[in-house]
Amino acid sequence: MRKLFSMLILCMALVLMIGSSAVLGAKPVLKVGTSADFPPFEFQDEKTGAYLGFDIDLIHAIGAAADMEVQIVNTAWDGLIPGLLTGNYDCIMSAMTITDERLKAVAFSDPYFSAGQVIVTQAGDSSIQTVEDLVGKKISVQIGTTGDLAASEIKGATVKRFNLAPDAIQEVRNGSVPACIIDLAVAAEIANEYDDIKFGEPFTMEYYGIAIHKNNSELIKKINRALASVKASGEYDTIYAHWFGGN
Ligand code: ARG
Repeated sequence: MRKLFSMLILCMALVLMIGSSAVLGAKPVLKVGTSADFPPFEFQDEKTGAYLGFDIDLIHAIGAAADMEVQIVNTAWDGLIPGLLTGNYDCIMSAMTITDERLKAVAFSDPYFSAGQVIVTQAGDSSIQTVEDLVGKKISVQIGTTGDLAASEIKGATVKRFNLAPDAIQEVRNGSVPACIIDLAVAAEIANEYDDIKFGEPFTMEYYGIAIHKNNSELIKKINRALASVKASGEYDTIYAHWFGGN
């Protein structure tokens, strides 16, 4: 009986030891909110559902540099900031432009990508070249984006807002609206797939940043340090070249 008891104690001690060493060995998790509707930055593989894109590769590299395990949490674009504030994830990696308005609610990492808005039209439409040509017109956008902001400033324009970015572009292909305002690289990616649309030169200057809760100064520092090391090591350039072509 005594022998059985001491064996039991030994077993329990072993379980505790193995358990705690597993805990000690485990990397801290970095939960990342994204809206995976924005190729080539974040999207899902049609067959496997895997998350792919420039942002996804970059956040994995940042996670590795910070010795953290990345977990992607797919969330509707217009719910991303509220979800960060609620604590559903630790940061947002979603081609999110650093804006003064957003800086009131969240903090951003150092910028990691420069971008701009472009106008997408049907390939045969030469009547729309500049923002001035959009006065009084219908414009499709993804809701709450900087494209939405730009369209909303155009005089007499009717802004049609979509939850998903590709749906806003689809609206131009359908002929339901003459123009969509969206980020350059996304317009390029989708126009590459469909030759019935084209896009112009960027008319805004924007920088993407990783959004983090203002209170989480520890993580802001950690992510900035990791981003800097991913840039210094050349890994950033490798990821960039993979998604946007090198030179
Ligand atoms: N850069 C634009 C913005 O910050 C659009 C980003 C949309 N991102 C996305 N994953 N749908 O407003």
